[in-house]
Amino acid sequence: MGALPLGMLVLFCVIPLIDPKGNGYARAGKFYQRFVAGVTLLMIAISWLPELTVWGVIAAKGSTNVIVSVLIGALLVGVSSAKALSYALDIPLVKVNHIEAHIAANYLEHDIEPPFVALVASGGHTSIVRVDGYNEHRLLAATTDDAIGEAFDKVARLMGLDYPGGASVDKLAAQGQPRIPLTKHKLVFSDGNVSYSGLKTAVINIIHNAGQKGESYSKEDLSACVRKKVCDILVKKTMLAADRFGFDKVAVAGGVSANSLLRRELEKACKVRKKDLFCPELKYCADNAAMVGVQGFYELSAKNTSGMDLNAKATKSIEE
Ligand code: KG4
Ligand code: ZN
Repeated sequence: MGALPLGMLVLFCVIPLIDPKGNGYARAGKFYQRFVAGVTLLMIAISWLPELTVWGVIAAKGSTNVIVSVLIGALLVGVSSAKALSYALDIPLVKVNHIEAHIAANYLEHDIEPPFVALVASGGHTSIVRVDGYNEHRLLAATTDDAIGEAFDKVARLMGLDYPGGASVDKLAAQGQPRIPLTKHKLVFSDGNVSYSGLKTAVINIIHNAGQKGESYSKEDLSACVRKKVCDILVKKTMLAADRFGFDKVAVAGGVSANSLLRRELEKACKVRKKDLFCPELKYCADNAAMVGVQGFYELSAKNTSGMDLNAKATKSIEE
């Protein structure tokens, strides 16, 4: 085994030991591990089979000779791996914006072409984006603090539910009724952005009050309330944006787009307004390599390649 693949293998094993509980690592966990493991295995294969042609680094709609580096959290090791492959094999290095990749999950199975308006709801982002082209995105609104997935995760943790919190809340909500008054805090601000801190405070208060009085509360009902509140806001904001800019196509993406109520309510709202709704298949809602491959294909098609000075960024805006 060559020195480079061996180094990659060691790095892959060591990183979880250095930062086993790091936030970025936890959030990007599975996908990151698979990505680095994939690259490592590929490096090993290359060192063993020098004649192997690397056209399968990503299978992005038939694109060949491309390495896609995914900008997630502190995953510098991913960028370094991609750079190493790009340099060693003299093939293009393509960077992919994580939010754009989530949106691109819709191109995998649907016949949707820009322009359209997209709601990206994930653990790290809640954004309403105007998609004018495969490489043309404009941020219309976002959360001022936690992303919606993060808010779901925090609320779930308060109730002692499993991670991913959004999925747990969604499951439990199906057995409850949204009958607990949740919050009087304003969640939507006049500038069009949204904050979920009032929602978390309301949930904390309900749980603490019940604890202080020695009473129990229904996790099913509380989950149903949180889910409804969140979905109402997201649907309203998305439809406002679609109406305002006259789009007849609406797409949703990100881990939270797996939410059953959100999908139902968006479907209803789009039907009333005679708009087409596009949702990724459930397996492509959360972080996955396929969505990165698709956006990578469009970046490469637009000749958006990067140099060796490419850096990973945890908080890159869709408009940068
Ligand atoms: O897109 P994603 O996999 O990662 C980021 O880019 O952040 O999204 C992960 C988020 C988690 O916060 C998780 O709680 C949420 O997606 N999630 C859900 C559901 N399934 C996963 N939220 C609401 N309802 C679901 N069914
Ligand atoms: Zn994501």
